[in-house]
Amino acid sequence: RKILLIGAPVDSGKRRRGCLMGPDAYRTARLPGALADLGHEVRDLGNLSPVSNDLSDRAGLHELPETVGWTQAISDAARDAMAAGLPIFMGGDHALSLGSVHGVAAHAANAGRPQFVLWLDAHSDFHSLTTTTSGNLHGTPLGYVTGREGFDGFPPVGHPVPMENVCLLGLRSVDPEERAAMDGTAIRRHDMRDVDEHGIKALLQPFLEKVAQANGMLHVSLDVDFLDPAVAPAVGTTVPGGATVREAHLVMELLHDSALMTSLDLVELNPMLDERGRTAQLMVDLAASALGRQVFDRPTPRIL
Ligand code: ARG
Ligand code: MN
Ligand code: MN
Ligand code: MN
Repeated sequence: RKILLIGAPVDSGKRRRGCLMGPDAYRTARLPGALADLGHEVRDLGNLSPVSNDLSDRAGLHELPETVGWTQAISDAARDAMAAGLPIFMGGDHALSLGSVHGVAAHAANAGRPQFVLWLDAHSDFHSLTTTTSGNLHGTPLGYVTGREGFDGFPPVGHPVPMENVCLLGLRSVDPEERAAMDGTAIRRHDMRDVDEHGIKALLQPFLEKVAQANGMLHVSLDVDFLDPAVAPAVGTTVPGGATVREAHLVMELLHDSALMTSLDLVELNPMLDERGRTAQLMVDLAASALGRQVFDRPTPRIL
């Protein structure tokens, strides 16, 4: 496949700085080479920068103007990239996905195909500008792209992702306002208890089958804190009890077998908090699994 690497050093989505170094950490950990080794055609498009605007800061919201600028830039880049191959957005904090999902969903709509989103995260990131209590906009992208109210100042969401096309996996920190907003919607949400009780494949498989039946496009958003902090320490918002290395690889391997993934975010890596690059390396290895790395060839897709 043709893979486009897009650096998006977004660091405005929360107060603790460092995610701006993410794209270069992925390059240093050899993301381009790892994917080329699998036979893919890889192009690194370099780093984006935010579009400037004349918005003003808003009380209670951290760095709103810069985050809106990133959303516009990343959405435009996502639309362009979707026409050319499979984009991987190298973050950058999770505010990146305000733009990446906005852009890929617009592309899908114009291609006449439904957009699906798999959100691998400890958090649901389902706030709006009016419900966030932290003011950190990395907690809002899923609310934005599903068309929630309360995003004044952001580009309008012309092609919201239907709630029933979203699957959250790995949850263990959901704020009361997010929970209330998700209640009564068809959004699929699996917390770590579900993972423990059923196994991660049993949770993922029905969703992938739905994507396949609908001939959908599938955007995967991988937040470092989906993983357990013991194996992925380089993230500001650690929550104990996350996915193991093997659970995360299995998700990626199943995604590869399904051949459904059309775009990918790697977000929330903060290299300042890493230990000898181990988190960056794990994220690169997970991306490689999603794009075909395996120990033995398994020619027959086992999912569908
Ligand atoms: N729900 C919390 C908040 O709104 C945490 C969000 C964490 N998000 C993330 N992308 N790590 O601040
Ligand atoms: Mn997140
Ligand atoms: Mn359109
Ligand atoms: Mn998170």
